[in-house]
Amino acid sequence: MSGPQAVTEEWAWVPKASAIAREAGNRLREFFSQGVETEYKGDVDLVTVADRSSEKLIRERLAEAFPEHGIYGEEGTRDRLGGEFRWYVDPLDGTTNFAHGFPQFCVSLGLEQRQNGLAPEKDGTMLAAVIYDPLRDELFAAERGLGARLNGKPMRVSRTPELCEALIATGFPSRKRHDNPNVHFYQEFTLRSHGVRRAGSAALDLAYVAAGRLDAFWEFNLNPWDTAAGILLVQEAGGQVTGFSGKPFKLDSREVLASNGLLHGELMGLFADMFAGRNLAPILTPQEFAARRAARSVETG
Ligand code: IPD
Ligand code: CA
Ligand code: CA
Repeated sequence: MSGPQAVTEEWAWVPKASAIAREAGNRLREFFSQGVETEYKGDVDLVTVADRSSEKLIRERLAEAFPEHGIYGEEGTRDRLGGEFRWYVDPLDGTTNFAHGFPQFCVSLGLEQRQNGLAPEKDGTMLAAVIYDPLRDELFAAERGLGARLNGKPMRVSRTPELCEALIATGFPSRKRHDNPNVHFYQEFTLRSHGVRRAGSAALDLAYVAAGRLDAFWEFNLNPWDTAAGILLVQEAGGQVTGFSGKPFKLDSREVLASNGLLHGELMGLFADMFAGRNLAPILTPQEFAARRAARSVETG
């Protein structure tokens, strides 16, 4: 059986992308410890010198490492987008956390292969993913068909079989917060699970589903740089990623539902009932919850 090192050596893009994500993450950590001024980008979105500085570094390093590849970055980079390969770059995912000194943010790099002649609105194939959390020194990485790793060790999604025993996550974009349906889903999922975390970095939320720390994640209105890397991590770790109704996930589809796979049907059912305005199944009482757990432990021996 091949060890972690042997598998890592087969990886075509992760080694260089990991070095770039680490360098950018280290820069973010320095800015974080000094504290930075916050500006508004548009009406409500925050941005800092750290977001821009990280994207500049990643843009330069990716161009050196992969001169033919395109780059699509949150802070405005649009380089060589007509080619076969494209990196989606979130130079700092979790800017609001960062700006408030809340220690949950990361760098996210996802590589897509776009077949010749693919229409601009169509997705190619995600090939590689790197998400780096500089405060915990955790590097989540995957390549298509080669599995997913956390700091070089294989990672798998959880085995939690039911929502009532799941820890899940979501997020709320700053845009359209006056008109956001997600709070209704947040309430229902909170009452029907072990809890819903809302930690403020969608890329890390997806990485945590891949690592089995969270059992599922959903969010409305994310952008390709938020999700590109994380969805490949979840898929390569054995999980499932779709839209809320089970349609194939698309980078610009504005809805993402990622899970360990075992919970996917139950989550999609709840979304379908809520979108249709149907009466939902009653929430389990503590006694019903305990009885259900006991019944399952008999079933599974
Ligand atoms: C945000 C984070 C957050 C999510 C927002 C994103 P940013 O990204 O991922 O968790 O809820 O929708 O915009 O702006 O910090 O890169
Ligand atoms: Ca983001
Ligand atoms: Ca960002």
